[in-house]
Amino acid sequence: MSPILETERLVLRSPTLSDATAIAAGVGDWQVAKNLARVPHPYTQSDAEALLARVGVTADLVLGITLKCGAAYIGGCGAHVCADGAYEIGYWLARPYWGFGYASEAARAVVNYAFEVLRATYLVAGWFDDNPNSGRVLQKLGFVPAGVSLRDCLARRERIFCHDMILEPAMLTAPIGVSPVERRSLQP
Ligand SMILES: CC(C)(COP(=O)(O)OP(=O)(O)OC[C@H]1O[C@@H](n2cnc3c(N)ncnc32)[C@H](O)[C@@H]1OP(=O)(O)O)[C@@H](O)C(=O)NCCC(=O)NCCS
Repeated sequence: MSPILETERLVLRSPTLSDATAIAAGVGDWQVAKNLARVPHPYTQSDAEALLARVGVTADLVLGITLKCGAAYIGGCGAHVCADGAYEIGYWLARPYWGFGYASEAARAVVNYAFEVLRATYLVAGWFDDNPNSGRVLQKLGFVPAGVSLRDCLARRERIFCHDMILEPAMLTAPIGVSPVERRSLQP
């Protein structure tokens, strides 16, 4: 069962078919797609529906980010199971919602869930060199640099210089400003 994670301003829940249009619009934005590793561009409604069909099929945690106030579907966040058993954290927000701290708030909830419920011993994440805002999200959570790599970007159809980051439970920072106040379900 997929969890529902609640923070001060957000509800993170499993995405459904009715979210496909919002996902296609958000991820279809080049400014979003070019910063993600695994999404094609253009990104269509059927790409979003194919993504939704895979939710729950793998062990990956896939959550939609919605605003508590108004319930708008504003982005996605999750944890991908890597080959070595580590979890890779990822997130995106539709462009109108950038700059309000929502990504940091959502990522913190997923990080807490990965450590507390999934029992991850460490988490990894990466940000492309020309996307420092994402690096800042990770840095605010306590992630530290673990190296650099060249990583495929499907949307750009090229390999991009990537900053690899790592987080262990003891490195997790205390939240500043907004903080998770309630976790409605802790069932994986
Ligand atoms: C990267 C992304 C998730 C950040 O989301 P966000 O909700 O805007 O993040 P935050 O509001 O927590 O801001 C993170 C940092 O970005 C920078 N930033 C955000 N909005 C900004 C703005 N309007 N002007 C200047 N800097 C800004 C700041 O450095 C901020 O850090 P701060 O809180 O210490 O000032 C969002 O831009 C996005 O979805 N981008 C496309 C997809 C993507 O990059 N996903 C991550 C792949 S690794």
